[in-house]
Amino acid sequence: MATRTVAVVLAGGVGERMGAGRPKQLMEVGGRPILAHAVGAFDAHPDVGEVVVVMAPGHLREAAAIAAPFRKTAAVIEGGATRTASTVAALRLLEDRPDDVRVLFHDAARPFVDRPVIDRVLDALDACEAVAVGVPSADTIVVVEDGTVASMPPRETLTRFQTPQGFRLGTIRKAYELALADPGLRATDDCGIVHRYLPDVPIRVVAGSERNLKVTQPLDAVIAEHLASEEAP
Ligand code: CTP
Ligand code: MG
Repeated sequence: MATRTVAVVLAGGVGERMGAGRPKQLMEVGGRPILAHAVGAFDAHPDVGEVVVVMAPGHLREAAAIAAPFRKTAAVIEGGATRTASTVAALRLLEDRPDDVRVLFHDAARPFVDRPVIDRVLDALDACEAVAVGVPSADTIVVVEDGTVASMPPRETLTRFQTPQGFRLGTIRKAYELALADPGLRATDDCGIVHRYLPDVPIRVVAGSERNLKVTQPLDAVIAEHLASEEAP
């Protein structure tokens, strides 16, 4: 049977804020590269048929070596200068696949995505075209303009997005077609592209997990190491 669910692990960034001198997804936590944790989570999920890794240019060989031991690794390809360009590289690879294939886009920098989170995204995709993963914001978040509070959205409506974000392939493909035709294209993630270019498509939000943190700055690496040590058998 053809694959119905493809996970795309986005590892095309260079980790500037981490400042490790190489992409942060190659750093080890719990004795394994962050990228291996992320690929492993999808490889282990029974509904995921293939995993595609999109890697930063210049590091393809390292990524291929990390991804090779996982049975479902289908391709390791080069990403682009932005996360959006890396997603587009994956969509090009999948251009011959049917519209109803489910595709999950995951930040390689989130090593602790787990089965329940992936389950919630896939379950929601049975009934809708686009799914995001969110956690409530513990902090009050305000809009600041010119050093002054411009507005204070009610905290209970504010949600921090995580990944994976899941889509029917036909929907995310259409959203990117429209986005790429827009000279003013800007977005930080794939749901942002759907929200902007297919505003009639509802984006369901399912619960993420506090463990599913994105390793972004040096302090996150310390936290990730601690979480990995809790996971060890
Ligand atoms: N990403 C990508 N292609 C890019 C930029 C980012 O695939 N051109 C991926 C990253 O590898 C990461 C995820 O998108 O897994 C989230 O991005 P971020 O945390 O910003 O990672 P980096 O861009 O590597 O970090 P920084 O912004 O600090 O340079
Ligand atoms: Mg970045």
